[in-house]
Amino acid sequence: QVAIDATWLGADLIRPLLPDLSQSAHKGQRGDVAVIGGAAGMTGAALLAARAAAQLGAGRVFVGLLDDQAPAVDLLAPELMLRSPAALLDAQGGRTCLLVGPGAGCDDAARTYLAQALAQPVPLVLDADALNLLAATDSLQTLLRQRKPITTLLTPHPLEAARLMGVSVQAIESDRLTAARTLAQRFACWIVLKGHGTLIVSPQQTAWINATGNGLLATAGSGDVLAGSAAALLAATGKASSVLAAVWLHGQAAIHYARKHGPGGLTAATLPLWMAASWADLP
Ligand code: APR
Ligand code: MG
Repeated sequence: QVAIDATWLGADLIRPLLPDLSQSAHKGQRGDVAVIGGAAGMTGAALLAARAAAQLGAGRVFVGLLDDQAPAVDLLAPELMLRSPAALLDAQGGRTCLLVGPGAGCDDAARTYLAQALAQPVPLVLDADALNLLAATDSLQTLLRQRKPITTLLTPHPLEAARLMGVSVQAIESDRLTAARTLAQRFACWIVLKGHGTLIVSPQQTAWINATGNGLLATAGSGDVLAGSAAALLAATGKASSVLAAVWLHGQAAIHYARKHGPGGLTAATLPLWMAASWADLP
């Protein structure tokens, strides 16, 4: 075992980072989330992220799907407000957090929306194809660096991190902490380097490591759920460090589920309710 210069996440550490629901009776105080993603064939990724944001307690959740053939309502989550990406990016209103990337694809439309999102002075979570676009586009990297001091969270899995750094996945995995630290410094933002033992590094280079989670999370969409959950907690608390709670609860949910139901049956769509149950069970 290699000693890692990072703080282990635990219940005591994450509890104060979660919103206090008793003080947030009005939906306007619970934060708004706007998710932009979901190109044709991948609308589910954006919807999973948006549902997770709603289930983790965001006051209002908007979704801008890039697929213009997509239905106007998510019948399994009618609380979501489906709009066009352009409409969401035009109307900032009281919105408090943007999430760009799940299922977004990498075409010119996605790149344009990402550039517009990066220019908005609101907290921003970038996941999945937003990270792939960022890796491939210097002008987006410049926009990202210019966001400082507004909160930006990047949630790469190892392949996305490898693309961002221009190295192999093997190079990332052989020294995950250095990779996460390097990305946090290069882009002046928060990095969540996912995978077993997820690492979180702040722009000030503070590092944390998470021990919760198991192989039940190795299922398509669980990353989208993490991104939506992080956006919801960020919107509700205004604290970038609330991402630590999202990561811990995401893993704890899989442990909680496995204890009750064993090794099969956890889907991305049901994961947020297990996160909420793990939240309720915090010692
Ligand atoms: N232990 C702990 N956590 C795990 C484990 C594990 N064994 N396996 C997966 N996870 C967690 C990760 O830490 C991360 O939070 O599950 C989440 C998976 O997120 P992603 O890798 O982003 O996966 P997701 O986006 O849901 O789906 C896979 O990624 O490579 C792309 O395009 C590809 O569609 C595919 C997508
Ligand atoms: Mg992903």
